[in-house]
Amino acid sequence: MALIDDLKAVQDQLAQQLAQATSLEALEDLRVRTMGKKGELTMLMKQMGKVAPEDRPAVGKFANQVRGQIESALVARKGELAKQLLAARIERESADITLPGRTQTPLGTQHLISSIREEIEDIFCGMGYDVVDGPYVDTTWYNFTALNAPEDHPSRSAKDTFYVVDNAPEGKPTHVLGESDVLLRTQTSGVQVHTMETTEPPIFMICPGTVFRPDTADANHLPQFTQVEGLVVDEGITFGDLKGTLDYFCRQIFGEDRATRYRPHFFPFTEPSCEVDVSCGVCHGEGCRFCNNTGWIEILGAGMVDPAVFDFCGIDSKRYTGFAFGIGVERVAALRYDLPDLRMLMTGDMRFLCQF
Ligand code: DAH
Repeated sequence: MALIDDLKAVQDQLAQQLAQATSLEALEDLRVRTMGKKGELTMLMKQMGKVAPEDRPAVGKFANQVRGQIESALVARKGELAKQLLAARIERESADITLPGRTQTPLGTQHLISSIREEIEDIFCGMGYDVVDGPYVDTTWYNFTALNAPEDHPSRSAKDTFYVVDNAPEGKPTHVLGESDVLLRTQTSGVQVHTMETTEPPIFMICPGTVFRPDTADANHLPQFTQVEGLVVDEGITFGDLKGTLDYFCRQIFGEDRATRYRPHFFPFTEPSCEVDVSCGVCHGEGCRFCNNTGWIEILGAGMVDPAVFDFCGIDSKRYTGFAFGIGVERVAALRYDLPDLRMLMTGDMRFLCQF
C-alpha cells in the first residue's frame, strides 16, 4: 500500500536524520519538518481520507504507530543530545580545584619594628631580665609625677602629651593642662613605677611598647612609636653596671666593632643621666653625612634611678640603687638600615617591608 510505504520511508529517513542532528536547534528543525503543520508526516496523515474504507483501520493503526514511534524517537534523541551537551560543557568548564593557583599568594613577613623589638628582648632575656607590659592609657602620676617630673615640666603640656577625655567638667576642653590626669603614655618610663610599686627588688626588667606624642609625622618623628624601657634595682648597683650592660647591648645590636660613648644629660627620673652614642657604622668615627660629621650617633637615654623616684614608689632608697634606660626602636631600625624617613615604617608598603 502506497501510504504505508510512504510512512515507512518517512520513518526510515527520520531515523537517519536523527543520528545526524547534533544540536538541539537541528533537532527542533527536524521535528518541525516531520511533524509540524506542513511536515512530511502531517501531510501523509492528511491523505488518510483517500485510503479505501476497508483498508482504513489497518492503515490508520499503522500511521498512529509510526507517529508514536517518531515522537518517542524525537524525545529520546533530545534527551540523549541534552546529556551529551551537558557532559561536553562539564568537561569544558570543569576545574581541578586541587591544583595550585597560577599566582602564588605572597607570604607576609614580620614587621621590621617587631623583629628588632624581639631581638632586643632576646638580648636582655639572655642577661636574665624579665619582659613586662604596661598600660597605654595611664595617669600623670605614672607618666610624670612619680618619675620626678616637676608640675610645670614642659613635657606635661598638651602640646607634648595626648590627654584623654576623662572626668573633665562638661563642655570644657580636656587638653588644658590639669583638666584631665588621664593620658596616652608619652614614654614607657611609667612602667618603672608600676613595676616598683608591685615588685620587691631585685628587679631586672625591660618593657617594650608603643608610646604616643602629638607630633606631626615627618622624616624623623612619628606620633606613635616604640620604646624599650629598662630598669635594674638591687643592692650595690653602680654606673659601672649600667655601662657594662649598655655596652654589651650596643655591640650585640649594632656589631662588635662599634664603640660607645656616654655624654652627660638630664632626665627628671635619673641622676646622673646620660645619653649613649655608638660610633658611626658608615664612617667608623671618621665623620660623614650620616653622623653629621661627628663620628657618633645618639642611640639611647639612661641614668642611675633618682632616689626621689624610689621614694615615690615605696622602695628604700638607702638600701637600693639602680639604673634605667630607654631605647627608641624606630631609631635603632633607622640607624641599622639607613632609613631616610621614619614614615616608611607606618605605610604598610610591602615593597619596603618585604626587604626585612
Ligand atoms: N623616657 C625617655 C624618653 O622618652 C627615655 C629614657 C631616658 C628612659 C633615660 C629612661 C632613662 O629610663 O633612664 O625620652
